[in-house]
Amino acid sequence: MGDGGIAIVGAGLVGIGWAIVFARAGLTVRVHDRDADRLTAVPDLMRRSLDDLHDAGLIDDPDAVIARVSCHADLGDAAGDVDYIQESVLERVEVKRELYERLDTVLADHTIVGSSSSGIPASAFTEGLGIAPRCLVAHPVNPPYLARIVEVVPAPWTLPETVEAVHALMHRVDQHPIRVNRELEGFVLNRLQGALLREAWALYDEGYCSLADLDATVSEGLGLRWSFMGPFETIDLNAPGGIADYAERLGGLYLSVARDRTDPQPWSADLIKRVEAERRQTLPAQDLGARGAWRDRRLMALAAHRRTQDV
Ligand SMILES: NC(=O)c1ccc[n+]([C@@H]2O[C@H](COP(=O)([O-])OP(=O)(O)OC[C@H]3O[C@@H](n4cnc5c(N)ncnc54)[C@H](O)[C@@H]3O)[C@@H](O)[C@H]2O)c1
Repeated sequence: MGDGGIAIVGAGLVGIGWAIVFARAGLTVRVHDRDADRLTAVPDLMRRSLDDLHDAGLIDDPDAVIARVSCHADLGDAAGDVDYIQESVLERVEVKRELYERLDTVLADHTIVGSSSSGIPASAFTEGLGIAPRCLVAHPVNPPYLARIVEVVPAPWTLPETVEAVHALMHRVDQHPIRVNRELEGFVLNRLQGALLREAWALYDEGYCSLADLDATVSEGLGLRWSFMGPFETIDLNAPGGIADYAERLGGLYLSVARDRTDPQPWSADLIKRVEAERRQTLPAQDLGARGAWRDRRLMALAAHRRTQDV
């Protein structure tokens, strides 16, 4: 990929996060949103996050980052000639399809498109389009300027060179791309999260634990290691002989536990009501925003700490 710049299409929560990722890395970023008010708000919204990043010691010069970003009401003007587009519009297949049909008519021959899609595979909205071989999913975690992982998921017709170019770009802007070899619902990250959530909701529903104690099991236990190592490395270090030894000792337990959940149930309206009531006792609805801001500051402190470590 050359230096033709980046376009962000869809300037919501995630699109603005991506604008920060690319502009922070020194690239020129052109932002488009179909909502004019949203587009006007982009510099101020970016500024808030950039000032927080600056206060946390994670960037030097917020002004220089903002200066690399321009906003465009016209899709062709924003995206017509860039090297890469990070599509970040609503997670609805018909919205994405309609946009990709328009992109098909305005893009230069070399432009690659990565979708922020959380679960809809690229094949569901790119089939039959001329640009389809240059499209894939590049799924981030929110906010992408703090959580570096990007799941790169090709459609069956995505060219291998498209996959390679997106990996190279993500490394260049200091993200951490992973390869998902073929499409599957929920990709990898949300399948892993889904497995944990399935068990957490079920354990609560069956009365084994309070929400607070289930959350503490992760925040004071499993999650401490997970902030710097994954499940395979964790179990490799949790038996004297490594992962094979761990499998020998505990494989039977995990098989038995997995067989316990062969009939997953929906999160019923009654269950959601009980969970909501317990959460609102811990965190009143009016405090959700402040707690979200607190979470982002904790993430920034963690990111600053990780910079000082060999991780
Ligand atoms: N929110 C998250 O935590 C998260 C994390 C990872 C990925 N994602 C994915 O990122 C994408 C965006 O999510 P979000 O949370 O930022 O949504 P959002 O609702 O905050 O933002 C979507 C933006 O897209 C704009 N838009 C809609 N249709 C458009 C079009 N045709 N052309 C231009 N702009 C258009 C809207 O005006 C809006 O500003 C979704 O696919 C979502 O699944 C979200």
